[in-house]
Amino acid sequence: MKRIAIFASGTGSNAKKIIEYFEGHPDIQVVLVVSNNKKAKVLDIAKEFHISSLIISRLELKNESYILEKFSLFSIDFIVLAGFLLLIPKYLVSHFPNRIINIHPALLPKFGGKGMYGMNVHKAVKEQAEKETGITIHFVNEKYDEGAIIFQASCPVLPEYSPEQIAKSVRSLEHQYFAPTIERILKRT
Ligand code: GRF
Repeated sequence: MKRIAIFASGTGSNAKKIIEYFEGHPDIQVVLVVSNNKKAKVLDIAKEFHISSLIISRLELKNESYILEKFSLFSIDFIVLAGFLLLIPKYLVSHFPNRIINIHPALLPKFGGKGMYGMNVHKAVKEQAEKETGITIHFVNEKYDEGAIIFQASCPVLPEYSPEQIAKSVRSLEHQYFAPTIERILKRT
C-alpha cells in the first residue's frame, strides 16, 4: 500500500477529490492531511473522512527531525501539495526524491513563482489577455513552481471571461485530472 500525505492551506476542494478517488483503492491510501492553517476547511474534510491531520507552524516545517519523525510514524511514501502555501524545505525534497508533487493553476512556466497563487494567477492571466490557461502538475524542488512538469491540461480563456470564470474552468480541470495523475505516478514507482 502506498501512503499519501496531502498538504493544504485552504479550502481543500482538490484534497477532497483526491481522498474520494482513493477511498477503497487497493494500492493507494490517503493517510494524513497536513496544514499550516488551523482554520483551514481542509481539516474539516479530513475529519469527515476519518483521516488524521497534522497542523504545523512555519517553524515546525523547517524542523527536519520533528517532521521526519511524524512522517515515519505514518509511513508516508508520497506527498501531494494541494494549495499549500509554504515553501517545501530542502531536507523534505531530498528525503522524498520525485515523491512530492504540486498542482499549479496555470500553464507553467507562465504565471508561476512567488506570489502567484489563487486569484493572483487568474487576474494575471486576464490582464495579459491570454487566450488559454490551464493546470500544471509537477514535481517539487526547492524553488516555487520549477520542478519537472508531469502533466498539463488547458482550457480556453474568452475575452469576456472574468478572473472568477477563469478560476472556475481551471478548478474543474484540477478536479478532473489531479487524482488520476497521482495514481499514474504511484503505479510506476
Ligand atoms: C488550486 O487552485 C491549486 O491549483 C493551487 O491551490 C488551489 C487549491 O484549491 N495550488 P483547493 O483548496 O483545493 O480548493
